[in-house]
Amino acid sequence: MIADNGLVATIERLKKQRNAVVLAHYYQSPKIQDVADFIGDSLELSRKAAATTADVIAFCGVHFMAETAKILNPNKTVVIPDFDAGCSLADDCPADAFAAFRHQYPDHFVVSYINCTAAVKAQSDLICTSSNAVDLINQLPQDRPILFAPDQNLGRWVQRQSNRTMTLWPGRCTVHEAFSEEALLQLKLEHPRAEVIAHPECQEHLLELADFIGSTSKLLNHTEISSSEAFIVLTEPGILHQMQQRVPNKTLIEVPGVDGCSCNSCPYMRLNTLEKLHRCLDTLKPTIEMEESLRQKALLPIRKMLEMSS
Ligand code: 13P
Ligand code: SF4
Repeated sequence: MIADNGLVATIERLKKQRNAVVLAHYYQSPKIQDVADFIGDSLELSRKAAATTADVIAFCGVHFMAETAKILNPNKTVVIPDFDAGCSLADDCPADAFAAFRHQYPDHFVVSYINCTAAVKAQSDLICTSSNAVDLINQLPQDRPILFAPDQNLGRWVQRQSNRTMTLWPGRCTVHEAFSEEALLQLKLEHPRAEVIAHPECQEHLLELADFIGSTSKLLNHTEISSSEAFIVLTEPGILHQMQQRVPNKTLIEVPGVDGCSCNSCPYMRLNTLEKLHRCLDTLKPTIEMEESLRQKALLPIRKMLEMSS
């Protein structure tokens, strides 16, 4: 194995050689974040993917994110360091079961969280992310019933924020459901002046203990604009790498999983490594491929999201 410095230099050389852009989600390891050309939340990464002029997109995130980049860029090569980097939310919502569910509610407007497969996106009227979900739902006609999939925790939070009742698909993120309420309460006792900031994929009883709720980018921005000096962070700890750089003098506290497990780290996101990023830039494999008819169907609700949230 080449030492990290050598690996980083080779990655930089390959990026130029391939005219490649490396996009990374905040939940990637610090080493990957440090070689990325752009780091963002799901919405920002989709926007970046839609706008790039690179020939190759190396997507350091999970499969549905790279798939979204491919849907937006059919003529570009989209590679992902580890093809098995999936997502429990996407896995919890198989396309055929979703089709059967949807047919029970033929008059409903179907809004799907971007954390789903292209086959589910293709059955949706609109895609949203955690940063624009409330804003997009608020733009929909009040008299139109809404079906929301696949994250029931995000769906419940959006319902409360928008005062809309929605029919929810019962999906969940195993990472955001792993946080221990007991540990959170203990941390609040130990740091009474700390603000609790949470991602809306967390369970309702934890969100009730939060002072601020938002997507990963919104959480990051909040640590900068808030006057608080300490934050208890209820989301995947990969975000702490950027937070530490933005607010080096503030205290950032991660919340462990139940029984102190490290299941607050996303096992899918963490499959990507610097070595695998190097390999995928070198070999241009594994690529994301998709049937054109599916891509065209999945593109419509993504485009609609980008238009409505511009
Ligand atoms: P955001 O990128 O919208 O904050 O979502 C977090 C997440 O879980 C991505 O899988
Ligand atoms: Fe999926 Fe949860 Fe991992 Fe995000 S953190 S990729 S929602 S499993």
